[in-house]
Order: sequence, then C-alpha cells, then structure tokens
Amino acid sequence: MHFPGPWRVLKGLLITLLFTDSVHAITLDITDEQSIKDAASTTAYAMMTYYHGNETGHIPGAFPDKWWEGAALFLALLHYWHFTGDTTYNSELRVGLEWQAGDDDYLPANYSSWIGNDDQMFWGLAAITAAEFEFADASNVGSGYSWLSLAQGVYNYQTSEWDTSTCDGGLRWQIWTYESGYDMKNSISNGGLFQLSARLARYTDDSSYADWAQKIWDWSASSPLLDNSTWNVADSTETTNDCSTQGDDQWSYNYGTYLMGAAYMYNYTNGSSTWLTAVDGLLNRTLEGFIHDGTYILEEKLCEPSEVCNDNEILFKGLVSNWLSLTALLVPSTYDTILPYLQGSAKAAALSCTGHNNNTCGVRWYQSDYDGWIGMEEEISATSIFVANMIAFNQSAPVTANTGGNSTSVPDAGENDTSGDSSSLSAITTGDRAGAGILTVVFVAGWVGLMSWTVLGG
Ligand SMILES: *[C@@H]1O[C@H](CO)[C@@H](O)[C@H](O)[C@H]1NC(C)=O
Ligand SMILES: *[C@@H]1O[C@H](CO)[C@@H](O)[C@H](O)[C@H]1NC(C)=O
Ligand SMILES: *[C@@H]1O[C@H](CO)[C@@H](O)[C@H](O)[C@H]1NC(C)=O
Ligand SMILES: *[C@@H]1O[C@H](CO)[C@@H](O)[C@H](O)[C@H]1NC(C)=O
Ligand SMILES: *[C@@H]1O[C@H](CO)[C@@H](O)[C@H](O)[C@H]1NC(C)=O
Ligand SMILES: *[C@@H]1O[C@H](CO)[C@@H](O)[C@H](O)[C@H]1NC(C)=O
Ligand SMILES: *[C@@H]1O[C@H](CO)[C@@H](O)[C@H](O)[C@H]1NC(C)=O
Ligand SMILES: *[C@@H]1O[C@H](CO)[C@@H](O)[C@H](O)[C@H]1NC(C)=O
Ligand SMILES: *[C@@H]1O[C@H](CO)[C@@H](O)[C@H](O)[C@H]1NC(C)=O
Ligand SMILES: *[C@@H]1O[C@H](CO)[C@@H](O)[C@H](O)[C@H]1NC(C)=O
Repeated sequence: MHFPGPWRVLKGLLITLLFTDSVHAITLDITDEQSIKDAASTTAYAMMTYYHGNETGHIPGAFPDKWWEGAALFLALLHYWHFTGDTTYNSELRVGLEWQAGDDDYLPANYSSWIGNDDQMFWGLAAITAAEFEFADASNVGSGYSWLSLAQGVYNYQTSEWDTSTCDGGLRWQIWTYESGYDMKNSISNGGLFQLSARLARYTDDSSYADWAQKIWDWSASSPLLDNSTWNVADSTETTNDCSTQGDDQWSYNYGTYLMGAAYMYNYTNGSSTWLTAVDGLLNRTLEGFIHDGTYILEEKLCEPSEVCNDNEILFKGLVSNWLSLTALLVPSTYDTILPYLQGSAKAAALSCTGHNNNTCGVRWYQSDYDGWIGMEEEISATSIFVANMIAFNQSAPVTANTGGNSTSVPDAGENDTSGDSSSLSAITTGDRAGAGILTVVFVAGWVGLMSWTVLGG
C-alpha cells in the first residue's frame, strides 16, 4: 500500500506502535498449548524475581512481612510445574516448603506468635497440593517432612483449636488472644480448614477427615458465614455477640475455598448429589459475583474499580483461578461452564501484561491494558490464570494414595510441637506485626477496626 505525503508520518508511527506492542505484550493464543506455557513461563519468571530465599543471607520461603504469601507463591509454582512440566523452580519450591515447616505443622518459631489460622492454612494447602501433584517428598531436605504429614499437621493443630465456647463451634480467625482478630470467626479460616479436610479425606480415603469436613460445613451453614440456599458467603462473624451478625463483604477467595472443598467432597463421595448442589450453587455465585459485567473476566469487585486492592486481595483471583481449574477436573459436569471464564480471564490478563516494556502485569484484567500496578502478587495471579487454562490440554487431576500418590502419612503429625503452646510465647504485641498476616477483614466490624487502630496507634 502506498501512503501519500502526510500519511508517511502516521505510517511510521503506526509501525512503531505495532512493533512495540508485539515485542512487549504477552501474545497468548488460548487454543495453543505452547502459547499458554510461554505466557506462564514469562510471568513465573517475573514472580520469581521477587523471591530471594535461595540466595546467600536469605531464608528459604520467608517473606517476613507477609509470611502467608510464601504459600501463595509456592501454590502458584506447584500448579505451574504440574500443568506445564517446567521444573525450573522445583528446587526453590522444595526447600522453601520444608524450611517453613516448623515442627511438621507450619508454625515456625520465628513467626508463630502472630500467625493466623488462615496464614497457617494456606501453607497446609500448598503441602496437600504437593502430595496430590506427586511432587516427590523431600526426605533429604531440611527436616524432611512429607507433604502429606505437613497437611496433616496443620489439620491436627487447627481441629484442636475448634472453639465451642462461642457460636457452638467454628475456628477463630486468629490463634492468639492478643491478636485483634481473635474475636472473629471468618470464612477463609473455616472454609480453608473445610477444604484442607476434604482434600485429606480424598487423598487418604480416611473418613475421619470427611467427618470433620462435614462438621465444619454444617457449622458454617448454621452460622452467618455460609447460606446453603442462596449460597451467599459472608466474610466474617463475631464471637462477642455469639455470631449473630454478619460482616458481608464479598471476596472471591471465600467463595473459592468453600467451592473447592465441596468439589473435593463431591469427588471423594463418588458423586454425591448433595455436594453437587453445593458445587453448582457456589460456582454460580462465584461467577455471578466476581466477573466483570458483560465479560468472562474475573474481577475482585470490592477493590478493583477504585484501585484499592492490597497485596492480599490482588492474590485472590489467582487462588480462585487455581481452584476453578481443579473444580473443573474433579466435578467434570462443571468443566464446560468454567472453561470460558478461564479463557476470557487469561486473554484479558495477557493484555494487561504490557507494563515497563518487560511484560509487567497489572491488577485489573478487565481493562485489557496495563494499569500501572506492579508486584509479585500481580505476577502470581497472572501465572495462575494462564496455568489454569492448561486443563484444556492436560486433565491430570490431583491423585490420591490409591491412584499413585505416595507421600508418607503421619496421622499424628505436628503433635510433638510445643511452640503451639501460647504460654511459652514471649509477648509480642499485635502492633509489631499487624501488617504481616491476612488483614482483609479487619475493617468489617466497627469495633474491631477501632481496636486495631488503637493498637497500631499505641
Ligand atoms: C520490569 O521493569 C520494572 C521497572 O523497571 C522492574 O521493576 C521489574 O523488576 C522488571 N521486571 C522484570 C521481570 O524484569
Ligand atoms: C535462585 O533461583 C533463581 C530462579 O528463580 C535462579 O535464577 C538463581 O540463579 C538462583 N540463585 C541461587 C544463588 O541459587
Ligand atoms: C500432564 O501433566 C502430568 C503431571 O504433570 C504429566 O505427568 C503428563 O506427562 C502431562 N501429560 C501431557 C500429555 O503433557
Ligand atoms: C528463623 O530466623 C533465623 C535467624 O534469622 C534463621 O536462621 C532461620 O532460618 C529462620 N527460620 C525460618 C523458618 O524462617
Ligand atoms: C513417589 O513418587 C514420586 C513421583 O512419582 C517419585 O519421584 C518418588 O521416587 C516416589 N517415592 C517412593 C518412595 O516411591
Ligand atoms: C442447610 O443448613 C441448615 C442449617 O445448618 C440445615 O439445617 C439444613 O439441613 C441444610 N440444608 C441442606 C440441604 O443441606
Ligand atoms: C468411592 O468408590 C471407590 C471405588 O469403588 C471406593 O473404594 C470408595 O470407598 C468410595 N468412596 C466413598 C466415600 O464411598
Ligand atoms: C473425580 O475426579 C476424577 C479426576 O478428574 C474424575 O475422573 C472422576 O470422574 C471424578 N468423579 C466423579 C464422581 O465425578
Ligand atoms: C446462575 O444461576 C441463575 C439461576 O439459575 C442463572 O440464571 C444464571 O445464568 C447462572 N449464572 C451463571 C454465571 O452460571
Ligand atoms: C514425637 O517424638 C517422638 C520422640 O522423638 C518420636 O518417636 C515420634 O515419632 C514423634 N511423633 C511425631 C508425630 O512426630
């Protein structure tokens, strides 16, 4: 084509723009397996630039100011390796998952005085994922706990904390009385332990884990957290009024964790219709509540439009991406419903990865352009949504002990841990570490907000 006079300039500009774009965008063809692997490889590399645990002078798996995010990073790496076959980061993964193990229960002494139940639980979920993906046990690394025993250790610890002194049951958000969230029972802690129990039941085929999953589910449904007819999942409820009120902030990972647990229970029970109803109901609300209007793109609606998502919240879509992909495999009837949302989200996420001339990904996928945000969390979530799309090419589902899983079972794992005894802890104030855990629900209830401000200010 011939461009006359003034068009020349424009043509030059257009070519520059097109060229720049093709160099610095992640080009993702959702129908092409290699293209998805390449996109995931780019963002996995980027997220690992924030990880220094394998370098001299650094501690494996440690993110001192946001300890739980190590679990989020390793969960993304486990999915990445399992579905793409790329082993590049497996040694960091193995060493980091072991190093933070504590006494086989993910309550390492450096952090145990302020770890919340949800923080510990995410490490437990990473461990059971490692077992289910047949990541070889690390008997030759550090303390060498098996992945299954680490999940069992977290389960043993958290079920022992089940609190019937208020609300007829439930797990508190925080472990220690001096933490400001101690008076709360929330969905991510209870839904997290529900999911962990369901996964242990399926992996081991030991019905005692399923009994606990059922018990946590029933308690949740009897509380304001989970509504088993509308499938609303609230964020939190309070022990100070015996769980009579609801902090109803809507976060995708609260839905995602109950959905994932229900999917495991469905699969574990060989297709129970009760669990299928729960899966369908929760999946429907997840897709109704966290998809950008008129699209198939995941959106954390409470914080994305106003750009106030904190680091925790930026990770929620990534966790939900992982859990949607496993739901599609464990409950095959949901596959056709889920896939278009994984595809729509991944295409948009790829378009958001055009930052800084080096494929930096943003937060708001629905914008389909870089939105200026930068961080490990953005890269983890982008990696997770790319990898989730691998289920179109590799339907390798989580295994069980009966289908190839060989992680060593230690039913009483973690029970030798004495650091879990609060009396042996030095008094570290909440204020010292208030930024360290998952703090998304702090401001839900007025008095808790006030209390934390007092502590932080004092
Ligand atoms: C991309 O560039 C930004 C800005 O210079 C930098 O902070 C970031 O670390 C870079 N990312 C990668 C993966 O190199
Ligand atoms: C740490 O791991 C990264 C990959 O994530 C690798 O590039 C780097 O060389 C490793 N550093 C050391 C000291 O092993
Ligand atoms: C699918 O993934 C599994 C687990 O990572 C791997 O063993 C298998 O080789 C993969 N299959 C294909 C066809 O890529
Ligand atoms: C705890 O801190 C010590 C001293 O910094 C360090 O050597 C150790 O690796 C840390 N352990 C964990 C689990 O982070
Ligand atoms: C368990 O399975 C993993 C993955 O297939 C394998 O690497 C490992 O050697 C196995 N361990 C034992 C004790 O069989
Ligand atoms: C829903 O939860 C309520 C309250 O726990 C319970 O009584 C009822 O049986 C549950 N319904 C179903 C279908 O599970
Ligand atoms: C599911 O089916 C398998 C194979 O028939 C059986 O071994 C297992 O006990 C069943 N699980 C449940 C919870 O009924
Ligand atoms: C359980 O998950 C496996 C693996 O994806 C699948 O083949 C099987 O059909 C599922 N079970 C049921 C009852 O749907
Ligand atoms: C959720 O369920 C409602 C009622 O059955 C249905 O109209 C809607 O399309 C479903 N939404 C999604 C995203 O599947
Ligand atoms: C607890 O410690 C004893 C003594 O060291 C050991 O024999 C036992 O295997 C440990 N139990 C667990 C569950 O780690």
